[in-house]
Amino acid sequence: MTECTRPKKGIFTAAVLANKAGGENFFRLSLELFDDAAKAFGAALPGQFAEFDISSVALPAKEHIPNELSDKSSRQILLRRPFSFTDVEIFGDKVIIEILYCVLGPATLRMKTLKSGDKINLIGPLGNGFKIYGDKKLVILVAGGMGIAPLLHLAKELKKLSEVQVVALLGAKSDSQLPCREIKDIKTLISTDDGAAGFKGFVTEMLKNWLKENKPFNRETIIYTCGPEVMMAKVAAISSEFNIPCQVSLERMMACGTGLCQGCAVKCVDKETNETGYKLCCKDGPVFEADEVVF
Ligand SMILES: Cc1cc2nc3c(=O)[nH]c(=O)nc-3n(C[C@H](O)[C@H](O)[C@H](O)COP(=O)(O)OP(=O)(O)OC[C@H]3O[C@@H](n4cnc5c(N)ncnc54)[C@H](O)[C@@H]3O)c2cc1C
Ligand code: FES
Repeated sequence: MTECTRPKKGIFTAAVLANKAGGENFFRLSLELFDDAAKAFGAALPGQFAEFDISSVALPAKEHIPNELSDKSSRQILLRRPFSFTDVEIFGDKVIIEILYCVLGPATLRMKTLKSGDKINLIGPLGNGFKIYGDKKLVILVAGGMGIAPLLHLAKELKKLSEVQVVALLGAKSDSQLPCREIKDIKTLISTDDGAAGFKGFVTEMLKNWLKENKPFNRETIIYTCGPEVMMAKVAAISSEFNIPCQVSLERMMACGTGLCQGCAVKCVDKETNETGYKLCCKDGPVFEADEVVF
């Protein structure tokens, strides 16, 4: 297993390199960091995230604010917002991180206006990240909608392991809500609820069909998943049915992102004693073993 030691987090000012639209509501934001960032991000694990300060980012012009966000758009952004990395690259003392975000509310609406040369403050890397095991021969990535973001970073790391076959199952409600249709060099299967692209139905049905058809050897297989909680609960149930280990990357509304406010509780079960208790998504997660989470 790769060592899951947590790199030291820090507060950094990042410069925007690019903020490219990819589809209706999706954007890829590339950021450049210097100074001590290389130390902090050099060991960043897929699944870790950063808390971004969006409070001073400008709103788009009125005509570019969708009707459904017009009421909320002028709200002050008091809390930082968490985003995982789709990629982290280190070049000497320079770090380039990339995030993929979806415009949902006041903070992400403002992020649309970020342009090359703008500065943005972030705290990271935070959380634990996915655990990668060297004895697995088959890795199945299961993403629902924006859940693809941390799995793209994970896919890149997995590609470095020559012995591992990776299959990605990506699902969304409709074609336009798929943030990504293909992961480079990885066998990618798509599902949409309405059948507009790929398999018609939930990505979880596609996963079950794939497992029945391909019958992978469970001890050499692992599933990593990220997406809506109800989808991950189903993936967890399928992984348990097929006796395949599974890691889930959970989302909670986060305030501090560092374990102080206790606002991001995840109900978990102790597998030895069977007692339930709470862990913190930001500090103990966001990645958990699927069978320790009480969905
Ligand atoms: C560890 C972690 C990693 C994340 N990574 C990404 C990422 O890579 N890309 C991305 O687009 N988003 C990601 N998110 C979600 C992202 O933080 C929220 O979409 C963002 O904060 C929304 O801010 P907003 O002000 O635009 O919208 P808000 O008005 O704050 O929210 C808009 C809607 O989304 C819901 N929402 C907001 N935050 C969350 C959340 N954390 N979990 C569930 N529902 C939420 C709200 O209830 C509301 O209905 C991540 C969240 C976590 C916890
Ligand atoms: S967000 Fe504050 S404890 Fe997790």
